Amino acid sequence: MDQDALKKQAAEAALDYVEGGIVGVGTGSTVNHFIDYLATIKGKVEGAVSSSEVSTERMRQHGIPIMDLNAAGDLALYVDGADESNQDLQLIKGGGGALTREKIIAAASAKFVCIADQSKLVDLLGNFPLPVEVIPMARSYVARELVKLGGTPIWREGFITDNGNLILDVQGMQIREPAKLEQQINNLAGVVTVGIFALRPADVLILGSEQGPQIITA
Ligand code: 5RP
Repeated sequence: MDQDALKKQAAEAALDYVEGGIVGVGTGSTVNHFIDYLATIKGKVEGAVSSSEVSTERMRQHGIPIMDLNAAGDLALYVDGADESNQDLQLIKGGGGALTREKIIAAASAKFVCIADQSKLVDLLGNFPLPVEVIPMARSYVARELVKLGGTPIWREGFITDNGNLILDVQGMQIREPAKLEQQINNLAGVVTVGIFALRPADVLILGSEQGPQIITA
């Protein structure tokens, strides 16, 4: 099976967690498959809170009602992908640049189900460049501070987030203490969000594999 087929398998397995109400929906190619599956049971849900303009557009095309998080309140379920996960279900996210809204919805949700192909499971986070969303005027300052933390930040040129900000992708990080580094980077002036999801990790990780969906719980 190719990587996309494994993503699709994980996305389909996540449907088992949809019990109705309003579903939080992430961003990315794996989530795109989930949105397509969610459309097949859309009568079962009231609607979705979306983490990006791209996911909103895809759900609108399927006729899935889009809700505002402020009106929806806390959510029972959030489904999203990841760029890396460790065994503790701490994640690197933000490859698609939607990390801030993703982190907000994850925080507001009782259960976070992460869907991915099996290649995303790693022993140590940091091989995937760590995305950091920054206020535009803070780009160079934050980059210098990230160098002090041992990383090599690369500006994702030409990319503007849905919030009007920039992304720095930090290479060369070996993230041995994810929660500590999440707090350190979040505390830098001008950082909106760092793509480490350790303070609020996933609750369930569904990995597409040749043997079928593998489910890891926190
Ligand atoms: C977007 C994300 C995605 O969930 C992450 O990049 C995984 O993407 P894909 O499902 O395409 O592999 O965090 O900001």
